[in-house]
Amino acid sequence: MIHVASTTAPVNIATLKYWGKRDAQLNLPTNSSISVTLAQDDLRTLTSAATGPEFEEDKLWLNGQEESLGSERTQNCLGDLRALRRELEIKDGSLPKMSQWKLHIVSENNFPTAAGLASSAAGFAALVMAIAKLYELPQSASEISRIARKGSGSACRSLFGGFVAWEMGEKEDGSDSKAVEVAPMEHWANMKAAVLVVSADKKDTPSTSGMQLTVKTSDLFQERIKNVVPKRFEEMKKSIIEKDFATFAELTMRDSNSFHATCLDSYPPIFYINDTSKKVIKLCHLINEFYGETIVAYTYDAGPNSVLYYLEENEEKLFAFIYKLFSNVEGWENKYSKDQLDSFLAAFEGVKSKVNFELDDEIQNNVSRVILTRVGPGPQDTTECLIDESTGLPK
Ligand code: DP6
Repeated sequence: MIHVASTTAPVNIATLKYWGKRDAQLNLPTNSSISVTLAQDDLRTLTSAATGPEFEEDKLWLNGQEESLGSERTQNCLGDLRALRRELEIKDGSLPKMSQWKLHIVSENNFPTAAGLASSAAGFAALVMAIAKLYELPQSASEISRIARKGSGSACRSLFGGFVAWEMGEKEDGSDSKAVEVAPMEHWANMKAAVLVVSADKKDTPSTSGMQLTVKTSDLFQERIKNVVPKRFEEMKKSIIEKDFATFAELTMRDSNSFHATCLDSYPPIFYINDTSKKVIKLCHLINEFYGETIVAYTYDAGPNSVLYYLEENEEKLFAFIYKLFSNVEGWENKYSKDQLDSFLAAFEGVKSKVNFELDDEIQNNVSRVILTRVGPGPQDTTECLIDESTGLPK
């Protein structure tokens, strides 16, 4: 008999960046980090996990392609999950001996890989959650997040919705390095995000090796982990609890800049943001200056895509600028009516005469799509299943 369980897991985008490992085997970070979990209508991974005595080997299918499950990171996750399942089986002899059986895992993203959005966080969170569900593990989301962390550091934060902190911990075995909720999504439900997908010329340095190089070679990095981030971690949590957008936004922008500065300070230097990203950074500062208040924050991960955080009540103010610039790309029509889109254009007409703002071909040509989304929940149960329960193979 085949047993199956499915779950979805979200993407998260850090506002206080994880960059640097003190233990690469266990993915233990050199600093704590904070992120916002994004809604799953736009960005999520759906994963089904199956097990049965007749399965001959562990197998994984990702977006329709069979992939290896042999990486050490994935094996670490599977090993931990099986150990927890074994504990249950020892306590209750009537349980099926799933810990001894092989697993089949099928996983799909609802967003194109070509979008260049890091999918490893949602991917590992969904993989670990689907198996935890299959094994009926009683552990809390924080406890499960320690396992997802071993798959990919940032994945531990995708175990929660809303606003999430990854506490770096200090123990050598990593038992205190886990994700916790700072506030649920309902706390600040009007937090929205616009992702500007920026075309990249070539593949970036993967984050795993990039951060190792920074740890080894950057002097600035030492200052960042010793003094800058610990202070910011407390301040950012407070700004979330108090829903203080101006503080949250400033800390977010400063932290993105600080992380990319340590990349530039690595030797040889690493460049993740490109000229288009820099123009978007300038645009955000111009917008905030124009309105005389902070209405938008940018942040960049290990690539040139901009993620803009803003509050729903300021949407028209922000879109007055960015809809005008990026109206030619995909991502608006599925979210807004023609009338709403026209009102964003009209809003631009209102500001045009008052600001020194020129449409710029380069920034327009290099953004290939926008993803308009918002803060969202953690992993979700689903009745959708990607595995055929009679064969144990992808549907
Ligand atoms: C820049 O979690 O992808 O997105 O732990 O090696 O898998 P590994 O790295 P990963 O790094 C993410 C780095 C980041 C910042 C962040 O998400 O906090």
